[in-house]
Amino acid sequence: MKPQLEKLQKDFKKALSEVNDTLKLDDLYQRFFSRRSGEMNEIMKNLKDLTGDARKEFGKLANEVKMELEEVYAEKKQDLKKQEWGGALEKEKIDVTQPKLPPQPKGHLHPITLVQNDLEDLFTSMGFMVLDGPELESDYYNFEAVNIPATHPARDSQDTFYIKGHNQNDVPNGTSPWVMRTQTSPMQVRALQKYGAPLRMIVPGRCFRNEATDARHEHTLYQVEGMVIDTDINFAHLKGVLETVAKHLYGPETQLRLRPKYYPFVEPGVNGEVTCTLCKGAGCRVCKQTGWLEIFGAGMTHPNVIKECGLDPQEYQGFAFGFGLDRLVMLKYGIDEIRVMKSGDLHFLEQF
Ligand code: DAH
Repeated sequence: MKPQLEKLQKDFKKALSEVNDTLKLDDLYQRFFSRRSGEMNEIMKNLKDLTGDARKEFGKLANEVKMELEEVYAEKKQDLKKQEWGGALEKEKIDVTQPKLPPQPKGHLHPITLVQNDLEDLFTSMGFMVLDGPELESDYYNFEAVNIPATHPARDSQDTFYIKGHNQNDVPNGTSPWVMRTQTSPMQVRALQKYGAPLRMIVPGRCFRNEATDARHEHTLYQVEGMVIDTDINFAHLKGVLETVAKHLYGPETQLRLRPKYYPFVEPGVNGEVTCTLCKGAGCRVCKQTGWLEIFGAGMTHPNVIKECGLDPQEYQGFAFGFGLDRLVMLKYGIDEIRVMKSGDLHFLEQF
């Protein structure tokens, strides 16, 4: 029996030297010293065959071996612990006597983020992807690809900040300048080129314009673009989706009115109005006595845009829409000055 004990001692030390993490170390310990099935236990079972002094002597020896091995095991455990997490656990100390810190004031989401999150949830529930696009955009994607060529008058209403000397590899002809995007519409083309059709997506994001700012115009604004492309899409789908959004935002009694309006990347194009959130259509200062508030532009995607994405407009059609997110927020909360939104003014922000 003594040779068995010596073998166990040798085996344990050898196995211990090969272990390099604490989990394996625990396994190893169990293998040798588990009370039910450990190797030591097997050896000790033989004790019952011995009598008198022999029994006493073996018992003592076995105990010494066990104590020695437990000591080397504990040392190894300490070493491994020190190495874990790059030694961070070892160095970290917790002072349990330190008094509790005073409660910190909790922040909250900006109203634009609140409405953006809400819309993302709504559109996701209708099977739309939520995409992100570049704020620094090529002239090609921002204008040309969405049917606004260089000499087009629509460029005048979207003057922006042009960037010199930026890498232009992303642009098919490699020559167009870069701009701070004036709209999220360039993502119509980027998304169709990347994901192909059928496609259902929205793009919330920040846009920029060279504006003389006033209560309703800002140089930095948020839009939510949307697009649906498939083989059998018609104007009724456009109206259905946008009516759902209007009612979701402003209540089930809200009505939607679509009137013709020109946008270069849709044909026909419309502007979308909802019954005034304040006077419910009766006419007031906010809706300039009309009873209606404009909240988006939309239309059936222009064949030129579909072609630009390498698809056949005879096979695929769809619709696109663009919300001014700042405006949605202003109407929802009755805010009459767009510039407060990015002012960082706590008097304003703390109301949400
Ligand atoms: N990009 C337009 C703007 O900034 C908004 C818009 C209108 C987007 C019509 C659309 C659309 O997708 O179909 O004024």
